[in-house]
Amino acid sequence: MAVTQPDMEISIGPLRLKNPVMSASGTFGYGEEYVSLVSLHRLGAIIVKGISLRPRQGNPPPRIAETACGMLNAIGLENVGLERFLSEKLPFLQGIDTPLIVNILGDTVEDYQQLAARLNEVDKVAALEVNISCPNVKQGGVAFGTDPDMAYAVTKGVCQHFKRPVIVKLSPNVTDITEIARAVAEAGADAVSLINTVLGMAIDIRSRRPKLANIFGGLSGPAIKPIALRMVWQVAAAVRIPVIGIGGITTPEDAIEFILAGAWAVQVGTTNFINPKATEEIIAGIAAYLAEHGMASIRDLIGRARQT
Ligand SMILES: Cc1cc2nc3c(=O)[nH]c(=O)nc-3n(C[C@H](O)[C@H](O)[C@H](O)COP(=O)(O)O)c2cc1C
Repeated sequence: MAVTQPDMEISIGPLRLKNPVMSASGTFGYGEEYVSLVSLHRLGAIIVKGISLRPRQGNPPPRIAETACGMLNAIGLENVGLERFLSEKLPFLQGIDTPLIVNILGDTVEDYQQLAARLNEVDKVAALEVNISCPNVKQGGVAFGTDPDMAYAVTKGVCQHFKRPVIVKLSPNVTDITEIARAVAEAGADAVSLINTVLGMAIDIRSRRPKLANIFGGLSGPAIKPIALRMVWQVAAAVRIPVIGIGGITTPEDAIEFILAGAWAVQVGTTNFINPKATEEIIAGIAAYLAEHGMASIRDLIGRARQT
């Protein structure tokens, strides 16, 4: 018997989402940029561009290169910084009836702790997403997310200062992502999101120079979906906390694949640049799939892919 109104609600600890589809950090600005294109209150959550303690200019141009089925970016985490985020961007987001998740980044554990403490005072911030793909300046520039001990330390530091859910965003640029996932779960993370971009490069054969001024950049878009799906499957089997799937999600079918692999929710990134309405279309498509298959709740789909 067909179910007409499937239950799309998902809870990540105390964080209740009306559906499992969120915008991915860095691909949706601070929300306001999309207001004329998307009904923002329909999203499961809005995740804003990564915020650091102080404003960052990012890398010099060119910072973007198109690739087959994706793009490379070396934006370098340009952002307005915490204080301008609070004074200029937050007032608009306060008026949107959807949870706000703030993505944070820092150069030291103390940076992350300060961001967490300050954002803890802002009720509208429903959760933090901790980007651990940044280099730790005190440890010689090794990214927090590539070392289990550093990933543990930054997660613990944030959890001590932020009293609502903490989601740690994992980098795929590691040998064993489950090792990092276990470390952050042990440190107190409420959920993990994965994956961030995959390190890559491109060369212009006419100028014989790398296409990005930074030489390397992060690959995103449909090209990375199989890698992301594999990692979500592995991490979902390795930790007990919820997993949020990210990487090349373009259609409702892509999102459903991630949920079947074990994701509780998904984020839509690069696709927003091509189809700004993608998040809403994916929400509608998942609901239609549930109804078509006579399923009452999205929760019945999580991790239900069969191995045989
Ligand atoms: C232009 C651009 C900027 C991004 N900025 C951030 C960021 O500030 N913080 C972060 O955690 N991830 C950032 N990401 C990574 C995305 O949130 C996402 O993890 C990645 O792009 C993979 O998903 P996708 O294939 O759906 O884009 C950025 C990605 C792109 C393409």
